[in-house]
Amino acid sequence: MSKEIKKEKILVTSALPYANGPLHIGHLAGAYLPADIYVRYQRLKGNDVVYICGSDEHGVAITIRAEQDGVQPKQIIDRFHELNKRSFECFGISFDNYSRTSLPIHHETGQEFFSDFYQKGILKKKKEKQFYDEAARMFLPDRYVEGTCPNCQFPEARGDQCEKCGSDFNQTELIDPKSKITGKTPVLKETFHWYFPLGDFQEGLKKYLDSHPEWKQNVKNYCYGWLKQGLKDRAITRDLQWGVKVPLEEARDKVLYVWFEAVLGYISSTKEWAQKIGEPDRWRDYWQNENCKLVHFIGKDNITFHAIMFPAILMAKKGYTLPDSVPANEFLNIQGDKVSTSRDYAVWLEDYLENFPPDSMRYCLASIAPETKDSDFSWKDFQTRNNSELVGILGNFINRSLTFIDKHFDGRVPQQKQHDELDYWILKQISEAPKKVGDQLERFRVRQALKAFMNVARDANKYFNDKEPWRTVKEDSELCGATLNICVQVSKTLAILMEPFLPFSAEKLWALLNQEGDIHGQNWFAAGKEFIPAGHQLAKPEILISKIEDKVIAAEVEKLKAKSQTVGKGEGKVSEEKSSLISFAQFKNIDLRVARVLTAERVENTDKLLRLEVEIGEEKRQIIAGMAEFLAPESMIGKLVIVVANLQPAKIRGLESQGMLLAAENDSGELSLITVDKEIGTGAKIR
Ligand code: 2FM
Ligand code: ZN
Repeated sequence: MSKEIKKEKILVTSALPYANGPLHIGHLAGAYLPADIYVRYQRLKGNDVVYICGSDEHGVAITIRAEQDGVQPKQIIDRFHELNKRSFECFGISFDNYSRTSLPIHHETGQEFFSDFYQKGILKKKKEKQFYDEAARMFLPDRYVEGTCPNCQFPEARGDQCEKCGSDFNQTELIDPKSKITGKTPVLKETFHWYFPLGDFQEGLKKYLDSHPEWKQNVKNYCYGWLKQGLKDRAITRDLQWGVKVPLEEARDKVLYVWFEAVLGYISSTKEWAQKIGEPDRWRDYWQNENCKLVHFIGKDNITFHAIMFPAILMAKKGYTLPDSVPANEFLNIQGDKVSTSRDYAVWLEDYLENFPPDSMRYCLASIAPETKDSDFSWKDFQTRNNSELVGILGNFINRSLTFIDKHFDGRVPQQKQHDELDYWILKQISEAPKKVGDQLERFRVRQALKAFMNVARDANKYFNDKEPWRTVKEDSELCGATLNICVQVSKTLAILMEPFLPFSAEKLWALLNQEGDIHGQNWFAAGKEFIPAGHQLAKPEILISKIEDKVIAAEVEKLKAKSQTVGKGEGKVSEEKSSLISFAQFKNIDLRVARVLTAERVENTDKLLRLEVEIGEEKRQIIAGMAEFLAPESMIGKLVIVVANLQPAKIRGLESQGMLLAAENDSGELSLITVDKEIGTGAKIR
């Protein structure tokens, strides 16, 4: 009789991405792929797991993007919610629900938490001075202010956090603060906000963290660091229009702080899921059940909110499950450089999918998952992993086994025979594999789990080689058949074990093995044990995974190289295709100066290029300009022109160009140099 296995209840979440731009592979590697692998594995184990996510649609991240694009926030979130949802689907990220924080169910949930705390007298109302932009006539919460980090002097720190050193601070501590809207220095103006008394939870949180010695070291270090500094009250309201309204008459112009309500998005998304399955109260089975394991997959920049703030909120609310684990991942760099959305320096999911299959990237990212430190993605490494490992090891074993059976046994699984030593060895490997892979996944070690899985494929190839079926087929067909029978059982095991990592290839292999039912609904523990009977007809063999050619990879490398040399285009890759309106802040980012042309000459062997030497104040610079068709170099000398002074230097025909000259261009491409008609002095600013 089979032993009854007790089902575990597990609620898994991945950080709700802001719906203010498209997703890149760094997102995937941090909070989504590891979670999806874990969830798929738990489903195969038969556990009761629900996987929750959705778009984070409030906060300054959204409104700034909307202002940059000259559109309403609603347009931004609608567009990126759909786009991101689709990208996740295409990569096989198998959420049970992908919600939106703009939905009424979420607003109600956020307001319910606030009202509950308000009524219980938990919140503190405080008067305070906040940055205010007099020109734009609005308060400037969070990212609306930028300045120099008081901790590490990074000049582009945001009002609430420094991206460089990761420190959080009060925006009034920023050095040289500037409004993101007008670029002006803000003034301090009085307002009031409600604070969540995080400090009161210091002791409770310490006990809670102490009860989780198994957490990842990076998360524990971070949290204990915070506790050591002493937890302070945190404002949970903001003077903004876009967001979840504070449910109080006296706070008509205020919304809940995005982080306060975003984490509650996990609850509202679960509520939405429960409604969709027709059991509206089911969400309580997970959120209000101490036997449910709550797991939050996030990137390292989100640790504070998930491992400190959210548990404290749940403690204050009472009766809620606390996170059981917060597996936070580090960051993924690209070809040695940090991802930069403003420079478009990233591998975007939608671009990737145009050229490659999702499983190849899933495999690569799982192999290099930034679990304990930042890791680096390179296209060359991606190709090697695909061609040498996925195709060369895994695909090779499947392909050689299935084609062999097709050719010599009419595609039918041959008979078994008394096992020899090698047979016993490989059968032992596959029967032990589910536990080996599973043990790593239980501890969120995706890299190690994938390694354990690939070791089975390696062993399988060794078995095939050592048994030499190409020889025995001529000398002892029964023995050859028995070998191939075992190869089929190994292939079935691989299909089940690969499902969490490579769900699309697993489906394909399941079909090649002509198995009934859905591979995604198989039993993890049956892998390596329940065998396909002799005589079973297999499908016609097909290649499981294809090689990736050098030229495709070279094109991707070139694309990134070009991007690493371009200048910022605002927040997000699609900024060029939207409305032609730019914000004042964007305009202020361009440093236009008056310069005098000192020398000008044609660049040898070119039709269009001029090499100019210009003077900008005290400084001399070389500029390579494509103007030779319309302007004689000698006519330019001495002229006062306008240059973009903060353009990233670029190499043109091997010559460095340290800026750009402004010229007017008509419809026929004719150029006219823009000059200044008064001796105003070089280096003068254009504004
Ligand atoms: O950092 C981010 O992208 C946030 N949108 C993550 C929010 S996670 C949770 F709180 F919803
Ligand atoms: Zn800093």
